[in-house]
Amino acid sequence: VTAQRGVRGDVAVLVPAAGQGVRLGPGHPKALRCLSGEPLLVHAIRRAAAVPSVGQIVVAAAPGAVKLVSELLVGVVPADISIEVIAGGSSRQASVASALTAVGPRPIVLVHDAARALAPPELFERVAAAVREGHPAVIPVVPIVDTIKYVDSAGMVGGTVDRTALRAVQTPQGFRRDVLVAAHGCAVDEHTDDAGLAEKLGVPVFTVPGDDRALKITRPVDLVVAEALLTRRGPSGRA
Ligand code: C5P
Repeated sequence: VTAQRGVRGDVAVLVPAAGQGVRLGPGHPKALRCLSGEPLLVHAIRRAAAVPSVGQIVVAAAPGAVKLVSELLVGVVPADISIEVIAGGSSRQASVASALTAVGPRPIVLVHDAARALAPPELFERVAAAVREGHPAVIPVVPIVDTIKYVDSAGMVGGTVDRTALRAVQTPQGFRRDVLVAAHGCAVDEHTDDAGLAEKLGVPVFTVPGDDRALKITRPVDLVVAEALLTRRGPSGRA
């Protein structure tokens, strides 16, 4: 389903939103769960659309929800941004690959999980800027706060990981379009993020600082945290 056609910006954003969100408990597909009265997907798309360099957004929805998602997004995106909703696949990677076929000629592609509904526009900008500066693949990262241990199937600890060099990875992840197309074209096994596919190709992946607001809404407690972030009035007056 295609809505408005625009010409602005050098960035296309792909939004995989076709997951069921089983870990969030029974109910609607995760991207359609509500946060402060609006679906997670609407929060995510509104923030992506607020990025001045974004000219195209492609959403991968659950195959049975393409029409509903298209209707939900009417009026959410300014008229000069092109927005399409396509049917996603059976895995996140398949959903991104489908969305990639709908991407136009823009040189930078960001892939952003609908589940990270509160990632702020400035995070999209930071990632896109690093790609624009010449990095073929860019990911936002945050330090690990927990101690990480190997645990075997009997529940016994096998060792402790040195966490100083570890980072938790967020989205949006940014790519030169040709790099992302090649990475998906060469994919042989499933990866949980797109940078993983680029790494397989030998593409150098650069990191930029992530943002607490880009938390992944996965478990019921994450919805509570996200609600709190939305109602919090920080120094800037917004979540
Ligand atoms: O399952 P997980 O939380 O890793 O999903 C990350 C993102 O990928 C979510 O936004 C989800 O909607 C999306 N996804 C998808 N197609 C699938 C599975 C997940 O677009 N088949």
